[in-house]
Amino acid sequence: MAHILPSIFGADILHLQEEIDFLEEEQTEILHVDLMDGNFVSNIAFGPNQIAAMKQQSKMIFDVHMMVAHPQDHLDDVIDTGAEMISVHYESTPHIHSMMQKIRKAGRKAGVVINPGTPETVLDYLLDDIDYILIMTINPGQPGQTFINKSLEKIRNTKEMIGERTIQIEVDGGVNQKIAKECAKAGADLIVVGGALFSNDKKIQYDALKEAIN
Ligand code: DX5
Ligand code: ZN
Repeated sequence: MAHILPSIFGADILHLQEEIDFLEEEQTEILHVDLMDGNFVSNIAFGPNQIAAMKQQSKMIFDVHMMVAHPQDHLDDVIDTGAEMISVHYESTPHIHSMMQKIRKAGRKAGVVINPGTPETVLDYLLDDIDYILIMTINPGQPGQTFINKSLEKIRNTKEMIGERTIQIEVDGGVNQKIAKECAKAGADLIVVGGALFSNDKKIQYDALKEAIN
């Protein structure tokens, strides 16, 4: 069964507590939290202190998506937030394997993220050392972009590459109801949704998204 992971970057920052309470009332298991440094990506959002503060107010599992140029310099702080799932971009470090080892050693789930231009085949030698693969379905950094259709093929190929391993596939960017359904069908387990959930009537949107993927 696939899960919807709300992306807190899409929420109303002036009513963050209400947004978190809503997601908990809706039995959200995992919250997707973006960490952007204005360098690896142009945007800047949610530093470790803010993530830790949100984490203290929530029972949800936190999935921190690190979009930073030097992940090794920030990993300890991210671990200290209490986040249970931490993902690092393949493109952001020459030491992706070591990053995965450190995350697992801290007792967290380790995820590797690939940009739209990065083929899934680069993950071959990481497969025994990761818990999830985050396939970016837009170029990271900005919300409100259009889902890149070629990603569906990438999800299918990744699923095949994983084989019998217990690695989960996550997708992030430009997902709406219709696309969520297609991603789930292609093999995605964790489906991040920002704009399409938090806009308009979020209760209706959330119900429709959950309905679409199961
Ligand atoms: C973008 C972020 C996403 C973003 C998705 O770089 O990684 O998590 O919040 O937003 P939508 O779903 O609106 O594309
Ligand atoms: Zn993200």
